[in-house]
Amino acid sequence: EIYRASTTAPVNIAVIKYWGKRDPKLNLPTNSSLSVTLSQSDLRTHTTASCSPSYPSSDSLLLNGSPQDVSGARTQACFRELRSLRKQLEDADSSLPKLSTFPLKIVSENNFPTAAGLASSAAGFAALVRAIANLYELPSSPTELSRIARQGSGSACRSLFGGYVRWEQGSTVDGSDSVAFQVAPAEHWPGMRAVILVVSAAKKGVSSTTGMQTTVATSSLFTARANETVPRRMKEMQDAIKNKDFETFGKTTMMDSNSFHATCLDTYPPIFYLNDVSRAAIKVVEQINKRAGKIIAAYTFDAGPNAVVYYEEQNEKEVAGLFKAMLGENEGWKGVRGDGVQANGE
Ligand code: DP6
Repeated sequence: EIYRASTTAPVNIAVIKYWGKRDPKLNLPTNSSLSVTLSQSDLRTHTTASCSPSYPSSDSLLLNGSPQDVSGARTQACFRELRSLRKQLEDADSSLPKLSTFPLKIVSENNFPTAAGLASSAAGFAALVRAIANLYELPSSPTELSRIARQGSGSACRSLFGGYVRWEQGSTVDGSDSVAFQVAPAEHWPGMRAVILVVSAAKKGVSSTTGMQTTVATSSLFTARANETVPRRMKEMQDAIKNKDFETFGKTTMMDSNSFHATCLDTYPPIFYLNDVSRAAIKVVEQINKRAGKIIAAYTFDAGPNAVVYYEEQNEKEVAGLFKAMLGENEGWKGVRGDGVQANGE
């Protein structure tokens, strides 16, 4: 007999970035972060988890058709935590099949480039954790699952929710309070849109895991960012979302992206995620805002050169329309993907 469950998880793009770990094993961050979950029409991971007593004895994971190593500490941590929650159910009710003892088979498909700084690990681990939680029929809330997904990849804990999501840095040593919460549902600000300018679909140079460890060890800007700048901006950002104040939302988003990339440059050896094409996109956003006489577009960049530009629906033509029209002109721009904000985590 084979037991099976499927789910999809969307990508989230932080407007206040996670960069730095106080515990690299548990992915406990040095600052809280805040993201917008993009709608699944475009970027998402679809995952099926199954288990069976008749499967070969070891767990397996297939991503876009190729076998992945599951022996890594992160995947192992997720499997272990989920199995232990299932075991508790089985111990409490002996009529339940002992799924926790069966090998797992995970099959995932991304509909976007893996590890290109398009938050693939976020959607990937969020989908993996929820698929297994569904398979095991765990009664866990999204916040409880976020504690597990975070151990797979920090940013994954935010992809278990739709809308606007806060990941609390927490202070406990075991990470029990380093979990995600929804700040506002997508319906709160229905006009919010994101356009993604794909500059490169190649794998990124320095992984975020390695990059942030080097930053913590060498950057002096980092301390001010984590301890002063981010805590202040987290408040500003939450107020901006509450008030649907795009100017503050946009300005804070751009300034936090710039602060994160400045910290990368201040790392030794320096880390460059932005390239000339990324900088050209920043200039276009600046021109759009100058022409409008206010902030109607806001760029942000993760650990890669691709730009995500947030804007409101009423400015579709001025923002997304302009980027689409410019595609032919700039050969560095591989494509544009547009998206709204995801209503629910699933
Ligand atoms: C720049 O979540 O990929 O996208 O926890 O080591 O897996 P690990 O890192 P990851 O880092 C994401 C960094 C970021 C900012 C963000 O998403 O908040």
